[in-house]
Amino acid sequence: QQPPQFATQLLDWFDSNGRHDLPWQQDINSYRVWVSEIMLQQTQVKTVIPYYRRFMQSFPDINTLAEASQEQVLSHWAGLGYYARGRNLHKAAQLIMAEHNGVFPKDFDSIVGLPGIGRSTAGAILSIALNQRFAILDGNVKRVLSRFFAIEGWPGEKRIESKLWLLADELTPKQRFDDYTQAIMDLGATLCTRSKPNCENCPVQSSCLAFKQEDVTKYPFKKPK
Ligand code: ADE
Repeated sequence: QQPPQFATQLLDWFDSNGRHDLPWQQDINSYRVWVSEIMLQQTQVKTVIPYYRRFMQSFPDINTLAEASQEQVLSHWAGLGYYARGRNLHKAAQLIMAEHNGVFPKDFDSIVGLPGIGRSTAGAILSIALNQRFAILDGNVKRVLSRFFAIEGWPGEKRIESKLWLLADELTPKQRFDDYTQAIMDLGATLCTRSKPNCENCPVQSSCLAFKQEDVTKYPFKKPK
């Protein structure tokens, strides 16, 4: 295993080929990263951008979001789908006002307890907004790691998921946690896509086990019937 190379190659690729001008990459703070991560959970970057801009215009901070009505919040969600995400965001803002004095919490345990925030989203917020060393494992990253390590097994299975978390943590470098998190998500979203992955341009192609097997789309394994 060669964790340093993986991160170095990925970061070099990200520096020259990653996205650096997205709206949530400007004026970074926990609130802005949180909202972006929730919107990006089931929706592509291109779709999210105008929604994100309108949302931030109307609800520039936690306090404004908490004091808005649920209707106002959900009207900004119309078209994005998965309305539970918007309702949880609103509920969490009110909880942060009541229990954290309106300040977005900085420790993992407080963040992961908020409505709509699981282990991966908490890791994304802590790494991207606060540059803390936390791994992420969303659908894109599960696909990247399943291929890179040729993991045999469905990632929805507990045993496989635990293994992926372990690998995700081991690959995380000793610095640049913010860029590394964004980089591995960008790799999954732009090159290591579900169908027709662009292996020719992949920065970690030379050590990818699925590529070596010439059967990249065999991974991740499908849900067993
Ligand atoms: N999907 C979830 N979070 C993302 C991010 N920060 N950038 C791109 N795709 C994402």
